[in-house]
Amino acid sequence: MLNTQLRLARRPSGEAVTGDFHISREAVPDPAPGQVVVRAEYISIDPSVRTHLNAGQSYRSMVGIGEVVDVPVAGEVVASASPLFSTGDKVVGPLGTQEYAVSDGANLTKVDLALAPLPVWLGGLGLTGLTAYFGLLEIGKPQPGQTVVVTAASGAVGSVVGQIARIKGARAVGVCGSEEKCRWLTQELGFDAAVNYRSPDLYRDLKEATPDRIDVVFDNVGGPLLDTILRRLAMRGRIIICGATSQYNTADIYGPKNYMVLATLRARMEGFIIYDYEDRFDAVRREMAQWVKDGRLKLRENIVEGSIVDYPQMLHRLYEGENIGKMMMRIRP
Ligand SMILES: NC(=O)c1ccc[n+]([C@@H]2O[C@H](COP(=O)([O-])OP(=O)(O)OC[C@H]3O[C@@H](n4cnc5c(N)ncnc54)[C@H](OP(=O)(O)O)[C@@H]3O)[C@@H](O)[C@H]2O)c1
Repeated sequence: MLNTQLRLARRPSGEAVTGDFHISREAVPDPAPGQVVVRAEYISIDPSVRTHLNAGQSYRSMVGIGEVVDVPVAGEVVASASPLFSTGDKVVGPLGTQEYAVSDGANLTKVDLALAPLPVWLGGLGLTGLTAYFGLLEIGKPQPGQTVVVTAASGAVGSVVGQIARIKGARAVGVCGSEEKCRWLTQELGFDAAVNYRSPDLYRDLKEATPDRIDVVFDNVGGPLLDTILRRLAMRGRIIICGATSQYNTADIYGPKNYMVLATLRARMEGFIIYDYEDRFDAVRREMAQWVKDGRLKLRENIVEGSIVDYPQMLHRLYEGENIGKMMMRIRP
């Protein structure tokens, strides 16, 4: 059995392109005692991957030159020498851009298909859904009646943020990049309002959508958009820094210029990393699965078909904003 792997060939400058990677093919080894071999079925497509291709330091180790790119994968155990996993088990874990991965099981979560189908474990009940839950409720703490504004609102994290805000009795306003996405948020997901950031008068539209100003900003995008949103902040507003997708492809990062509103409005800006909440993932997955069952939380996977070699192109499509919901690639068997 041959394993096709996508490896980092050089550090990208700007957006990652196909030439920044190379493909290797090697035999899939038999698992050593304690190990399993997992066949990838779905590979997560995440904007933050671009930041892991840089040199330097972050909350996790960067991808080294020549290494497989470390991304979340959902798949099936196809060989097991571990007492903890059987052939046929479905699992998720950071198994990387390769068709087959060998694991000692420590980085794997066994999937309970009774809770949700496999792709959902990469999306709404995976890291992106959990990021929405913990970022909003632990950092933002929206109160009933307050206004929550979320950017990249039709994406994997953002679409869940707005719905959890509604579940908690807050008013949800999404900011995203097309009229079609705005309609999906308000008509399908129940957001109270949605604003297209490509509007010729974004501030006017935002003002109209947030008549009582903004108590909680859940920011996934950063850049000038965050500056515009800060102009609508309410007294004691909270700004959750989840990510900055608009800045990941540039070395010349745009920082907020309107940050002095933090002083005048006694506001707070705070970041977080989802891995700090790992010990609560199981319980929260169950809570969110119940919301799905009750029809209070709608999850959407944007599944594109491809093979490992297509990964850079899929990342490009994500940055083009082609996705609605959680983008992932189903690996052609
Ligand atoms: N803190 C944590 O622990 C943690 C964990 C997971 C994810 N994150 C962060 O959460 C954010 C959202 O991730 P996701 O997986 O849910 O991605 P996503 O929102 O599903 O996909 C990316 C979306 O970002 C928007 N976008 C792309 N380029 C943009 C640009 N230049 N300016 C503005 N918007 C742009 C596009 O939508 P539009 O059409 O609306 O532009 C695109 O659909 C990312 O910043 C990610 O790094 C953080």
